[in-house]
Amino acid sequence: MTKQKVVLVTGGMGGLGETISTKMADAGYRVVVTYSPGNAKHAEWVAGMAARGYDILAVPCDVADFDSCTRAVAEVQAQVGAVDVLVNNAGITRDMTFKKMDTVNWNAVMRTNLDSLFNMTKQVADGMVDRGWGRIINVSSVNGSKGAFGQTNYSAAKSGVHGFTKALALEVARKNVTVNTISPGYIGTKMVTAIPKEILDSKILPQIPVGRLGKPEEVAGLIIYLASEEAAFVTGANIAINGGQHMQ
Ligand code: CAA
Repeated sequence: MTKQKVVLVTGGMGGLGETISTKMADAGYRVVVTYSPGNAKHAEWVAGMAARGYDILAVPCDVADFDSCTRAVAEVQAQVGAVDVLVNNAGITRDMTFKKMDTVNWNAVMRTNLDSLFNMTKQVADGMVDRGWGRIINVSSVNGSKGAFGQTNYSAAKSGVHGFTKALALEVARKNVTVNTISPGYIGTKMVTAIPKEILDSKILPQIPVGRLGKPEEVAGLIIYLASEEAAFVTGANIAINGGQHMQ
């Protein structure tokens, strides 16, 4: 019997992360999520998942902190074995115009959305190379490709995500480890519904040709494809999933 593949989803309790996690469990993966150490509702979340029939391991991890990532992945390995698929999904926004941007909000976004790729991928990449199989899927954003009003920090970090993807994809391609970026547009999660309604309605929705927000399930479906055997020839790609808002 082939071993059930282990997928680690950072920020796996969040808006996008939760759907990625349940859909990957439905697809047969052993799912592990990381949650921010400050999240007091993690036990409740795991219990809620169990009630829905999902056995998901959750470990605390500050993705902005290298040592925290080292500890988290060591715990994952001890409990369920090596990580086969890493989904670098954890991310935050601290939106404000550049005029108001300060170092605290710049650094928070760079550390959580970009440094996290180094911090987490470093824990699992050598093992994937040694075993000759792996999938690394980095969640960027349409706003990393096109920029967004109020997001100098976020757009810079999300743009950096794909530079990381391309360089690492070159280094590990011969070892059957693929590294890809996905760039979701505006998906109906808390991060997007937190945008002031008049801005969402007047500035953002009119830019989406499909005429609606995306669904977390649509993003999860793309991730499941990239994690699959069939996607072995897709590496170093940046796949847009944005309802036509930005065409590369
Ligand atoms: N395009 C053009 N103009 C915009 C704009 C936009 N997207 N957003 C705001 N403006 C304009 C406003 O209309 C306003 O113009 P006037 O002064 O002429 O009325 C001016 O900018 C100032 O806007 P606010 O009054 O809202 O200023 P603020 O300082 O209170 O807030 C802001 C600024 C925080 C950037 C706020 O406008 C905002 O939250 N905008 C949305 C930012 C956004 O799109 N974030 C994406 C979050 S979702 C995400 O990041 C997920 C993903 O990956 C896609």
